Amino acid sequence: MNIYKTLLIILVFGQLKAQTLKSLSPQDKYIGTIVNTNFFDNPLKNEKQYDSIIKSQFNGIVAENNYKMAILMPNQPKDPFHLTLKDINTGYLDKLANFGIQNKMIVRGHCLIWQNQVPQWLSILSKKWTSKQIYAFAKQYITLVVGYTKGKIQEWDVVNEGIDDRTAKLRANTWYNNVTNKQDFINQCFIYTRKADPKALLFYNDFSIEGFQEKEDSRNHFMLTMVKNMRNHKIPIDGVGLQCHLVNNQLEDGYIFSIGRTIDEISSIGLKCSITEFDIRICNNQNASSREQLEIQKQKYQKMILLLLGHKGVTGITFWGFTDKHSWIPNIMQNCGNAHIYDTNYNPKPAYEGVRESLKAIQRYTKQKPFLNSPIKIPGTIEFENYDYGSKGISFMDRDEINNGNFIDRKDPVDLIQESNGTIILGYTEAGEWLSYTINVATTGLYDFDILNCSAETNNAQIRIEIDGIRIAHSFTFIPNGSWSTYKNEIFHNIPLPKGIHTLKFYIEKGPVNLDKTKIHLSK
Ligand code: G3I
Repeated sequence: MNIYKTLLIILVFGQLKAQTLKSLSPQDKYIGTIVNTNFFDNPLKNEKQYDSIIKSQFNGIVAENNYKMAILMPNQPKDPFHLTLKDINTGYLDKLANFGIQNKMIVRGHCLIWQNQVPQWLSILSKKWTSKQIYAFAKQYITLVVGYTKGKIQEWDVVNEGIDDRTAKLRANTWYNNVTNKQDFINQCFIYTRKADPKALLFYNDFSIEGFQEKEDSRNHFMLTMVKNMRNHKIPIDGVGLQCHLVNNQLEDGYIFSIGRTIDEISSIGLKCSITEFDIRICNNQNASSREQLEIQKQKYQKMILLLLGHKGVTGITFWGFTDKHSWIPNIMQNCGNAHIYDTNYNPKPAYEGVRESLKAIQRYTKQKPFLNSPIKIPGTIEFENYDYGSKGISFMDRDEINNGNFIDRKDPVDLIQESNGTIILGYTEAGEWLSYTINVATTGLYDFDILNCSAETNNAQIRIEIDGIRIAHSFTFIPNGSWSTYKNEIFHNIPLPKGIHTLKFYIEKGPVNLDKTKIHLSK
């Protein structure tokens, strides 16, 4: 083989390697997947693509079912209050943990205490147990399982789905229903787990808790209050697992941003978040594999990843399945499916591209340099000329190479005009041009943008706003007022901004328009 061919192969493989999800994931976060129950045994073991996609794309792993009590302890032990390792299928614990270690992956343990997938013998016996006996059994089980895998599991879901679907309070009808104080039982389970493996991060995990809600009788509100109380009482909880099983056509931008708000709240309590069971299913009469649905799904995946992995408070994200070929959804959710990023033949779907695009966007905006070296604080004011430093295509897009204005301090081709009173205005804008700004938003919420001193002469101009490369609001129109020198103010209402450091982009869809500055403040 000649040297050019060798170089080409190195280059191509280098490119392919560089493009996998895990290689694009932010340094301090993981991108994980479940491993199907049949993975370590036949028949899935023979599906080479299943294995190779997991190894090449992901750096986090969790068992879909094999760490649950029904699978770890299907047979009634001799003495449930004095368990030994013989009572537990340690083989399942070993297979996943060792696979994770061999492949340098974060391993999640899912889950210790859950009302579902419990062995039948436990459902029957526990009805007769006293509160004390239930504590004793849970302590034995947790101590044994967590102690056995000590040092190998980075995150444990200690309690799963403890909040009732209907009442939004702690569940009744569980195998642990006979405990006299359910919250105290949950607290003790965290204490047992911490003792058994002091280094693992301990999570409360649940579904439909991710969207922020003011309503006091909501699951979200209950969860936030519960974990805040646990923290205040020094219960060893480290984080909240937001499952995020979502539906393609119901997932509005507002809901995505409200997940950001929940993560803000959890962070402010001093806890971490993990996105533990992410998928976006397509339901009912929609043609699940139509181009349109797959494109919508791509956009939803894209926005979710951008928001979630771009958030400081998140440790990582786990996809609850990566291929439509092996999915829990059609078995459990009637008329739904196609929820994952690979299709039934292991081909990447548009959603896979969406995930990658967002990961790349996160890398890009973390690299660009803010003007004046620090992000602009929001609420606050952005002068349009203070766009970020960075090479062309990173912080601004100006169609031509010359500055058509008379203000040339920035030494780049963006068209800036200095008015006689000293004000600097952005002008000569054209469709397709844009400017970006690094902002630091104090709280997630809806903001008004007061665009101060703007003008359009004869045609409607139009601008759209993007956060971290994703369009977040409809386009705003500037009505012409007949003269460039007659400036007026416009207001863009209710623009959702997530907390933290982000890239805000003003994209000119129709020009020209002259712009001076924008004051950004919380909407009333
Ligand atoms: O193992 C038996 C097999 O022996 C039997 O032949 C077969 C017949 O249906 O069933 C097999 O068990 C199934 C098991 O998955 C393993 O495939 C159960 O019926 C089935 O109910 C079970 O579903 C799992 C479900 O949890 C149980 O609630 C799904 O795979 C799993 O993806 C799902 O995961 C849960 C999370 O743990 C918690 N959050 C929600 C999430 C989705 O429901």
